[in-house]
Amino acid sequence: MFTELTEGTTRIIVPQQHLTKSMFYNPKMELCRDIDIAAVAAFVSSLPNRSHVTYADALAGTGVRGIRVANEVGLQVTINDRSTPAYELINRNIRLNEIEERASACNENANVLLVQTKYDLVDIDPFGSPVPFLDAACKSVKKMLLITATDTAPLCGAHTGGVRNYGAKPLNTEYHAEMGTRILLGAVTRELCKYDRAIEPLLSYASAHFIRVIARVERGAKKADDSMKRLGFIAHCFSCGHRFSFSCEDMLDLNVENACELCGKKMRIAGPLYISAIKEKAFCERVHEELGKRALGKKKEAMKIVHTCIHELDIPFFYEHHALCKALKIPPPPISSLLDALHSNGFSASRTSFSDTAVKTDARIDEIKAILK
Ligand SMILES: C[S@@+](CC[C@H](N)C(=O)[O-])C[C@H]1O[C@@H](n2cnc3c(N)ncnc32)[C@H](O)[C@@H]1O
Ligand SMILES: [Zn+2]
Repeated sequence: MFTELTEGTTRIIVPQQHLTKSMFYNPKMELCRDIDIAAVAAFVSSLPNRSHVTYADALAGTGVRGIRVANEVGLQVTINDRSTPAYELINRNIRLNEIEERASACNENANVLLVQTKYDLVDIDPFGSPVPFLDAACKSVKKMLLITATDTAPLCGAHTGGVRNYGAKPLNTEYHAEMGTRILLGAVTRELCKYDRAIEPLLSYASAHFIRVIARVERGAKKADDSMKRLGFIAHCFSCGHRFSFSCEDMLDLNVENACELCGKKMRIAGPLYISAIKEKAFCERVHEELGKRALGKKKEAMKIVHTCIHELDIPFFYEHHALCKALKIPPPPISSLLDALHSNGFSASRTSFSDTAVKTDARIDEIKAILK
């Protein structure tokens, strides 16, 4: 039993039971795919000869991502899934959209495909962790990586898998979604470095059940060395909520003050993770423009996320407004008035795409609390 649906301007045939069990197709990811289409379009608009740009949808399910990229952006796509029923569905969806000239289906293990062939853009959208595919993706990619992670529990510090899977220690703080995103970006930085390549994050965000990172890839040992300098650590005090990030030229010579400067309790350390900017403002502005001019099912939500990213401070953590007010035993004022008050006290402050109820600021927690009071 199959159903036909439309995403963007693309038609997709989906097995009916997959609409609820999300095997080859997850309807909840339409928002992510809408943002991808705008991001890929924004990225290739600056490249010469975009009809020759190659894109690999390595874990494709129904093929919806790759088919949309071929149909709505016009790239040459390879759409791969190792499952034979998925492969047959991809072929059907290619024919349905009449994009046989630009799209080819492939029935391979993603790692084999990516080790054998280089692509300008590589998209990894697995169930769970992207870690098993990172090495091959980093070997294959020439210009841009798009990676999803749905294993948010180990990435965000809810259980121990962070160290095992990502070689980094997460902490389960109020900003765990951002911490997970930065741990994933840190892992990708190290994978790319092995091949003298460097990551430049363009747009990164998280929603309830997934993390998505979109990044430009640059070549060269010097650029790779520089990208390693963008890794660092976050120190967090679970007693008073004080937090700060620091970089570390030599990761193997980690020397940190253990006592919290505000309350004297022991600080906990998360990392290594990516502590520089996880978005490029000018790129996000172009994505926002692309979203505005396209027919998309999740246009409004997509524009809201990207708009927030454009204005978000490049600080690697945030403060939950309600948690701050609860600690002070005061009713929470509107977030906008906290932002105004921080600005008028000379601090930088912004919202964050990771939480509707949080602020980013360069004020310390004691300074934020004093302002709230
Ligand atoms: C989350 S689904 C893909 C969803 C799709 N990208 C979308 O946006 O709707 C993951 C897919 O990866 C496929 N898969 C899992 N392991 C694979 C491997 N090693 N090589 C190729 N495909 C694989 C599964 O068959 C499944 O269809
Ligand atoms: Zn403290």
